[in-house]
Amino acid sequence: MNAVTPEPTAPPVAAACDAFARDLLAALATRPRRIAPKYFYDAAGSRLFDRICELPEYYLTRTELTLLQARRTEIAERIGPQAEIIEFGAGSLHKVRLLLAALDGPAAYRPIDISGPFLRDAASALQRDWPHLPVQPIVADYTQALQLPPHRGPGRRLGFFPGSTIGNLAPEAALDFLRRAAAVLRGGALLLGVDLVKDPSVLHAAYNDAEGVTAAFNRNLLVRANRELGADFQPDQFAHSAFYNAPLQRIEMHLMSRRRQQVQVCGERFEFAAGETLHTENSHKYTIEGMQALARRAGFTPLAAWTDANRWFGLHWLQAPAMETSA
Ligand code: AVJ
Repeated sequence: MNAVTPEPTAPPVAAACDAFARDLLAALATRPRRIAPKYFYDAAGSRLFDRICELPEYYLTRTELTLLQARRTEIAERIGPQAEIIEFGAGSLHKVRLLLAALDGPAAYRPIDISGPFLRDAASALQRDWPHLPVQPIVADYTQALQLPPHRGPGRRLGFFPGSTIGNLAPEAALDFLRRAAAVLRGGALLLGVDLVKDPSVLHAAYNDAEGVTAAFNRNLLVRANRELGADFQPDQFAHSAFYNAPLQRIEMHLMSRRRQQVQVCGERFEFAAGETLHTENSHKYTIEGMQALARRAGFTPLAAWTDANRWFGLHWLQAPAMETSA
């Protein structure tokens, strides 16, 4: 460590640096280098992710939509009329349309997402199609403390967390999230989509698509850093690396330096050795039983789990703890 030197030498760009800058600088300064996947999702990254969902290799979205479609009546009956829907990490709001169409007079829809402008556009598009539904986007990081407006009755509250987005969290962090979700969903339920443990070759293909869209999504982190932070990454000098880590039951994505190179971020310089990586994402996979065990530890009661014929994807119905009764 260098001795602490007085501030005047700090480059002016540092002032403009935000949470992304802080986290990227911290990632580059430590080993192994890793950064939270939430930084993928600027507007361009959110669009790239939407393209991933359409890829032939990326079975997750398609399989989950089929499950939602097949179980929609059962889901609507379980939650009952006039439910308030809270969606975590909502993205482009495609999947909830299926749910909203199936539910009996939903009272409100509150999507939570980190990507503000993208969320607001998606929310206005949804509002046009459901003109009488109160649609209230909440720009927030759902992995942090959940601050929700008061419950909009008279029905129950339904949490919706599709897409296996929970897989971005390590199991301990997923448990923390589930505990907070259980608290805000008291008296209601959580509908949770989770990718299942399966043949690694199927997983490998899903994160290494032939068209290279996943690679572009991964490199978008560097493109974003160049644009927002004035960094000087050469994205094509970093290879997309995605592989299944079997002992940890997760896909790992990395950006691997193709050669020895230096980069500059917010006036600080960092060196990458050839083959050195920046770890950009984990995508944890669960068995049905594994996720149910985690949900139980968080206070939920697993009441149903639906899967497709291949057993590639799981959709869980988790009953939240009962409402606290005041004495
Ligand atoms: C949005 C986190 C569910 O892990 O499959 C897709 C993100 N990364 N391809 C996933 C992603 C690479 C996706 N999640």
